[in-house]
Amino acid sequence: MTIKELNERFEFRTIRPEEAEQAVMIEQICFPPNEACSEAMMRERVEAVPDLFLAAVDRETGKIAGFLNGIATNEEIFRDEFFTDAGLHDPEGENVMLLGLDVLPQYRGQGLAREIVRQYKRRELQRGRKVLILTCLSSKTEMYEKMGFHNKGVSGSSWGGEQWYEMTCRFTADI
Ligand SMILES: CC(C)(COP(=O)(O)OP(=O)(O)OC[C@H]1O[C@@H](n2cnc3c(N)ncnc32)[C@H](O)[C@@H]1OP(=O)(O)O)[C@@H](O)C(=O)NCCC(=O)NCCS
Repeated sequence: MTIKELNERFEFRTIRPEEAEQAVMIEQICFPPNEACSEAMMRERVEAVPDLFLAAVDRETGKIAGFLNGIATNEEIFRDEFFTDAGLHDPEGENVMLLGLDVLPQYRGQGLAREIVRQYKRRELQRGRKVLILTCLSSKTEMYEKMGFHNKGVSGSSWGGEQWYEMTCRFTADI
């Protein structure tokens, strides 16, 4: 779908408190148990840092089709505590640690993840952030490279017992 079509079909916005349940369910569908954010943690994140969520809401059903979430910080290296402690969020932080990109299976393969990331980057650039940082499995590094991230190599994270790669996207004025 084109950017215009995606924006006609989906509303892109921050998450609402009453949508925490949906975020929990989507995370469980998208990630295996060792990688998924726990229910309690997702609820805490939605409650504490809704502004750092970008949800794509299907205008027809009113339900979330996919979302990206993170927390802001002045730290520059990803550590696993960002996954488990929403209290690390610093609203004035220059960087965003991205904690999860989720698109429900029935909405995949249409460019929705790409559009969520594109809009997230624009929004956070406007908020004065400098760098987006995430970790991903080797199978996803290429996808994030296509979305403008650079592969910094193996991360110190051992989340879920997996090997992770740290990817960063440093903002330039032309995003
Ligand atoms: C990964 C995921 C977010 C992709 O969502 P999507 O909406 O289908 O992705 P898009 O259609 O926007 O695809 C964007 C690009 O990434 C590529 N891509 C999509 N899914 C991919 C995957 N699983 N592996 C590798 N590349 C992938 C696409 O080929 C596309 O590239 P193209 O434009 O050259 O065709 C979705 O499959 C998902 O939620 N998976 C489970 C959770 C997950 O793995 N999240 C990401 C890791 S944190």
